[in-house]
Amino acid sequence: MKAIHYSRNGGPEVMEFGELPDPQVGPDTVLIAVEWVSIEGGDLLNRQITPPAQVPFVPGYQAAGTVAATGSEVTRFRPGDKVVGFHWNGSHAELFAVQEHHAFAVPEGLDLRLAATVPIPFGTAHDALFEYGGLKPGETVLVQGAAGGVGLAAVQLAAQAGASVIGTASSPERLARIAPFGMHHGIDYRREDIASRCKDLTGGKGIDLVLDLAGGKGKDALMDAVRPHGRYAVVGASSGDLPSFGFFELIRKALHVYGISLGRDMHTPRARAMIEDLLARVAAGSLEMPIDAEFPLAEARRAHEHVATAHPFGRVLLRAR
Ligand SMILES: NC(=O)c1ccc[n+]([C@@H]2O[C@H](COP(=O)([O-])OP(=O)(O)OC[C@H]3O[C@@H](n4cnc5c(N)ncnc54)[C@H](OP(=O)(O)O)[C@@H]3O)[C@@H](O)[C@H]2O)c1
Repeated sequence: MKAIHYSRNGGPEVMEFGELPDPQVGPDTVLIAVEWVSIEGGDLLNRQITPPAQVPFVPGYQAAGTVAATGSEVTRFRPGDKVVGFHWNGSHAELFAVQEHHAFAVPEGLDLRLAATVPIPFGTAHDALFEYGGLKPGETVLVQGAAGGVGLAAVQLAAQAGASVIGTASSPERLARIAPFGMHHGIDYRREDIASRCKDLTGGKGIDLVLDLAGGKGKDALMDAVRPHGRYAVVGASSGDLPSFGFFELIRKALHVYGISLGRDMHTPRARAMIEDLLARVAAGSLEMPIDAEFPLAEARRAHEHVATAHPFGRVLLRAR
């Protein structure tokens, strides 16, 4: 198969395009003939900082396509089925091997391009808001990094659940594009003071639930923005800087801080039901994910560069065939 691979961490230039052996089909494997790869925020972070688990390493968490083969123990899928799959690596290729519990049927009528974007961003946002965040109607949620994949998913899910949604992005133009997805108030994180805007917008009370997708130094502003006894979801570090929390900061505010790792939950019946419901909502048009750009698989370097530098709105895709 043709695949993108790398052997050391670094920028997009460490990625090569070439021929690699096809993935092995184990008893529980669903082998996907990939049509569309969704470039996830974590794909870039891994390439930059996570030592490759094996070399050559094929990056990528998520892709959609048609089932090409199934292992002897697979009961839910057959060759020819349309699926979207998750694995810890391997999506940037013509063939993507996922375990059966990490494969999800694409509902009738849902375009594979859009299906490729669903499980991780929407599932992560849903878990951070509801399963672990306990968001209730009428509460205020702050989404740091609202123009990205997880951010746009969170804005829509929170607004549709009756929350008041505040989002941050890097410019007024980007904030204006997020508003129609359900965001009630936007904050330009480069030019505005997040904490004081949040205090004003909540009548001095502070934010009930913070979703931190960006990490880094911005977390201090989010710490100031959240109310005492509020909740703080540690989801990602798209700013490129890893956040660190002060022990006494947590005590002073009596904060509930929780980490999210959808990959750890995705094999469970609970997460399957959630992701199937999210796929159905996207198929019905009540949730959406804008596609910012598409590149051929062979041009993954250019695609990753675009994600890192061009401030895409929503998702960037690779076309594998
Ligand atoms: N824990 C999990 O299970 C899980 C699952 C999925 C993703 N993640 C992580 O969550 C993060 C977001 O993922 P994604 O797929 O949504 O990424 P994405 O689509 O690349 O979006 C990242 C967003 O972060 C914003 N951003 C960058 N630097 C920022 C800063 N200093 N302050 C505020 N916002 C900033 C960007 O906004 P502007 O363009 O407007 O600057 C961009 O919209 C990534 O770190 C990813 O690894 C974690």
